Amino acid sequence: MVGPTPDELGIAGYAHIVNACCRGVWCAESPVVRPSFDPNNPDTYHVEQWLGQGAFGTVSIVTAENGTRVMAVKMASSGKEAALRNEVDVLNKLGIHRNIVTLFGMLEPTSAWEPVRFFMEYVGGGTIAALAQSLAGVSEEEARAIIRQLLYGLEHIHAQKVIHRDIKGANILISPTGCVKIADLGISRIHIGDAKSFAGSGPYIAPEVYTGSRYDSKIDLWSVGGVIVEILHGTHPWAGIPAMSLCLKVSRFEFPKPDKVSPTLENLFSKVFCAPNDRHSATMLLGHPWLTTSAA
Ligand SMILES: Nc1ncnc2c1ncn2[C@@H]1O[C@H](COP(=O)(O)OP(=O)(O)O)[C@@H](O)[C@H]1O
Ligand SMILES: [Mg+2]
Repeated sequence: MVGPTPDELGIAGYAHIVNACCRGVWCAESPVVRPSFDPNNPDTYHVEQWLGQGAFGTVSIVTAENGTRVMAVKMASSGKEAALRNEVDVLNKLGIHRNIVTLFGMLEPTSAWEPVRFFMEYVGGGTIAALAQSLAGVSEEEARAIIRQLLYGLEHIHAQKVIHRDIKGANILISPTGCVKIADLGISRIHIGDAKSFAGSGPYIAPEVYTGSRYDSKIDLWSVGGVIVEILHGTHPWAGIPAMSLCLKVSRFEFPKPDKVSPTLENLFSKVFCAPNDRHSATMLLGHPWLTTSAA
């Protein structure tokens, strides 16, 4: 009843999802309803299948209501419990938004060997990194349909005074109907304005983070630029560039510009790959011609 898992989707499955995303099929989706289960009572759910592994935890498919409802559970890797607790706090603060993964509950461990874990909606199309890689990159029109939803989600996150700090294709999920959902808020930070610590994933990190300056929610918009490059190419931005020279290049505000893009997208890049004071916010970007026009 889960349907094909992200691993089983293949090129045809991903092409179908991108097509649904472009046609706005996701807009007609009903809000996510929390399955009836008790996180602290293992008799009310069943862990089915491994889904993915990141730096902080393992994610698996879980069924509830006698196998009729599907969700996902994230279990903290050893030593990463604080990140998972932070993720739960942030998801609670963010509430329900259709472009952000919905939290269903958390299991409080009763012993030291039990991992911290939380339950959330299952997003069946996998990550947009896997999607773009599988399709060897998407067109500008397809990228626009994905990025628009990413920006809706980020707009909400920033309005709640949260910085995501790890925006990248591997942390952005897509449903089979093309609904984009921001996930992995493990290193997100509540209280915009005083952040300085180094955080994020190399190729997506903004210059002000590399240089150790104070930063705010604008760092997520530099990463959005990286995600656009990633999904157009099907590989992460700066693929093949060693970490050290990447750091130097980004600190000089260089960015991984794709070979051939439309003038409107070129203009959008100039609004995200720039100094934080000049960088567009999520709300401003949503009004940019690349995102408002239907042709690239
Ligand atoms: N709600 C979900 N539905 C489906 N797959 C998910 C979900 N959450 C995470 N995943 C999968 O698990 C992987 C790791 O999850 P993530 O939250 O990014 O963990 P980490 O914090 O360890 O990086 C993701 O890249 C994705 O493949
Ligand atoms: Mg992750």
